[in-house]
Amino acid sequence: MVGKMLYLRTDAGAEAAKQAAMQQQQALIEAGAQVVPADPAQKYHGAVAAGYEARRVGKPKWEAEQQIIETVLAQLPAGTVILDAPVGTGRFIPYYASKGFAVRGMDISEEMIVQAVEKVPAELKTAIIDGEQQFMFGIGDVRKSSIGDGAVDVAVNCRITRWLSLDDCRLMFKEMMRIARKMIIMTVRTGGGNARPVHEFNTLAAASARPWTLAEDHRCSEDDYRVLVFRDMA
Ligand SMILES: C[S@@+](CC[C@H](N)C(=O)[O-])C[C@H]1O[C@@H](n2cnc3c(N)ncnc32)[C@H](O)[C@@H]1O
Repeated sequence: MVGKMLYLRTDAGAEAAKQAAMQQQQALIEAGAQVVPADPAQKYHGAVAAGYEARRVGKPKWEAEQQIIETVLAQLPAGTVILDAPVGTGRFIPYYASKGFAVRGMDISEEMIVQAVEKVPAELKTAIIDGEQQFMFGIGDVRKSSIGDGAVDVAVNCRITRWLSLDDCRLMFKEMMRIARKMIIMTVRTGGGNARPVHEFNTLAAASARPWTLAEDHRCSEDDYRVLVFRDMA
C-alpha cells in the first residue's frame, strides 16, 4: 500500500515560515473563524514531527482519546485488520500489538510514519497474519488512497478532521466507508470555529450504498470534542 511521496522537503527558513503561518492559522481558528488549513500536509515534519508526542502525552484530550478508542477496540478479536489513518507517531501501535491486530498505518508524512514503525515490538516486526505482514505502513492521503474496497475491518481516524476542509472531511469519510468493512472510529470537534458537525457524517452514512450507522458518540475531554463510532449494519 506504499504510495508515492506527496510532500516536498524544505530548507530551515521555509520550515520556520511554514510554522509561523500554521500558528497564525491556529490563532484564527481559536478566535472562532472558519479557516481551511492552508497546507495541512506540510505541517508534520522536522521539529513538529520529532516533538509531537512529548507535547501531548498526559494531556486530558490525549488521555481521553486513548482510553475511549482502546475501549471501543477492546471488543474486537485478534486478527482484526485495522487501518490507522493518519497513523501519526503510532500512538495506538502498542495497543494493537497487545491485541494481536493486523495493522495498516497510513500518513501523508514520512517522518511521522518513521516514529510509528519504531513502536512495533521487535518480536512482531516480521510477524505474519493470514499470509500478510502483521504491521504495514505507507504514505498516503486519507481523502483518496490506493487501498482496496473493504480491505480492512476497522478504520481509525484520530485527530485529522481539523486539518481538512469540511469538503475534504466528507471525502475522507466516504473513503473510509469504502475501505472499512465493519467500523469507523473518528474524532471530531463539533462546535466552535471549524466545527465538523455530526450530522454531516450521518448524512453521508445514510446515503451510502452500504448501511453505515452512528453506533456510539463519546464525549472526549470536552463536550464539543467527540469520538464517533460508525458501524456497517449489514
Ligand atoms: C494531529 S496528527 C494525528 C496523528 C495521530 N492520528 C494521533 O492521533 O496522534 C495529524 C496527522 O495527519 C497527517 N495528515 C495531514 N493531512 C493528511 C492527509 N490528507 N492524509 C493523510 N495524513 C494526513 C499529518 O501528517 C499528521 O501525522
